[in-house]
Formats: sequence, structure tokens, C-alpha cells
Amino acid sequence: MSLVTTKEMLNDARDRHYAVGAFNVENMEMVQAVLAAAERLRAPVIMQTTPSAIKYAGADYFYGNVFAAAKDACVPVALHLDHGSDYSLAVQAVRAGYTSIMIDGSKMPLESNIQITRKVTELCSSIGIPVEAELGKVGGKEDDLEAGPGEAYTDPGEAEYFVEQTGISSLAVAIGTAHGFYQGEPQLDLQRLSDIKRRVSVPLVLHGASGVPAEAVAESIRRGICKVNYATELRAAYTGAVRETLENQPELIDPKIFGKAGRERVTEQVMEKMKVCGCAGKA
Ligand code: G3H
Ligand code: ZN
Repeated sequence: MSLVTTKEMLNDARDRHYAVGAFNVENMEMVQAVLAAAERLRAPVIMQTTPSAIKYAGADYFYGNVFAAAKDACVPVALHLDHGSDYSLAVQAVRAGYTSIMIDGSKMPLESNIQITRKVTELCSSIGIPVEAELGKVGGKEDDLEAGPGEAYTDPGEAEYFVEQTGISSLAVAIGTAHGFYQGEPQLDLQRLSDIKRRVSVPLVLHGASGVPAEAVAESIRRGICKVNYATELRAAYTGAVRETLENQPELIDPKIFGKAGRERVTEQVMEKMKVCGCAGKA
């Protein structure tokens, strides 16, 4: 089937109390790996790329890869721009065929975040593309952006105002997760999540899920998270398998051999995450 938007996917997740896994893909093997996991578990799936991935290969290449994966798939697949940095990148992704857009103005003051987000929702709503935006600051380093220490969590009242003002389809919340590997166990502010959920009806998104214990992710889904983003653990899985293969076979020169090893490791990883999200069997 052709690519679908994240709108119906996330609304269904919200209504049936599970989350869709959103997986950052950085090459063809990762796209194939994520699709294989989704098909094995009959799970709806979101593949997403950051601005730096687009800088590396171009939006058309990712669209081509994800379209090829989706066209004969037995599960719905969406292609999402993750942490879109500006309006022109949103336009570029939409033109390439992305079916979901994130505009991340979370590093800006509230009114500027509203302004840039509204500009993107105006563009996207005219062509039926849903928009995710972020309020509050997820810590750590995402792509080329680094949040400072002690950054603000999402304020529930501000979240309500932000959703009303922007017309977004989903909201990424800052409740104690961070991008990249954690030092120690992350402590999620689950009460805050419940408070946000009470005031906001659009599906909520959890960023920085790599390294968050499965039980904490599951509890956040019970409290309203409908999309869970994983990047770092997939990178580590892919690169770890490639590294091991090359170390074990130093004479190896065929990229297909180590690519296959990376692909298989990512499929295992994604299946594990899908089970945590509760999206297995939901397609
Ligand atoms: O937007 C992508 C993510 O929030 C992924 O975070 O790298 O910590 O898994 P992660
Ligand atoms: Zn993120």
C-alpha cells in the first residue's frame, strides 16, 4: 500500500490505548529492517528522518527507500520528518512525499514556537499532512541540536494554549526523557504527563525513548503517549552488528554481508520496542 499519514495511526493508538513506534532510519538497510519487524508483528509503523539524515542523503532518497518498503507491505507505513528545523525543510519534505511533519520550535520562546508551528500547520493542513510540534525541552543531543542542562518540562496549561493556537495534530512533551544514552536511569514525571493529557486531546509523543525502561514506557502509554521515538538504540544495534562482523572477518569486502548483519540486528531491536509499545497485532 502507499504511504499513509500519521493522523489516523495516532488517533487509533489514542483510542485503543497503545503507541505506534517511530524509528529513525539512516540508510536502506535500516528501512528494510524496520519494515521487516512491522510485518512480522503486524504493527503499524512510522519511519522518520532527522534534518541531518536528509542532509546526508536527501529527502528523495529516503522517500524512495520508504516508498519501496511500503508499496507491497501488509502494514501501514508513514514517513515522518523528525525535528524539522524550519519552514523550508518542511516544504522540502512535503514535496518529496513525506506524509507527516514535525516542526521543532521548542528551543524558541513560546510565542515564536507558536508562530513557526502555525506557519507549518497552515501549509500542511491544506494538503492533509499532520504536524507534530514540541513544547518544553527534551534534554540531550538530538541531531545537531543540543539542549542545555535543566531545560524546562512541558507545562500542562501552556500545552493546552499551544495546541489551541497552532492546530497541531500531535504534541511532543518534555517529561524527563533525553536524546542519546542516559547516565543512570531516567525518572519520568508521569504526573505531569497525566496533567497534560487531561488538558490536551491530540495524541502525545515521547521523544528520547532509547534507554528508558520498558515499564516506564508502558506506563507513559497508559497515561496518554501514542507515539514513541527510538533512534540511538537502533544506531547502536546497526553499528554494533556491522562492527562485530568486520572484526570477525577482517578480509570481508562485500558490503551486503555486513549490511545484512546490521539489518537483522535492527529488526530484532525494533520488534522488542514494538512489543513495549503495544502496537503488535494492531495493523
Ligand atoms: O526524535 C527522535 C528521538 O526522540 C529518539 O531519541 O535517540 O534517545 O532514542 P533517542
Ligand atoms: Zn526526538
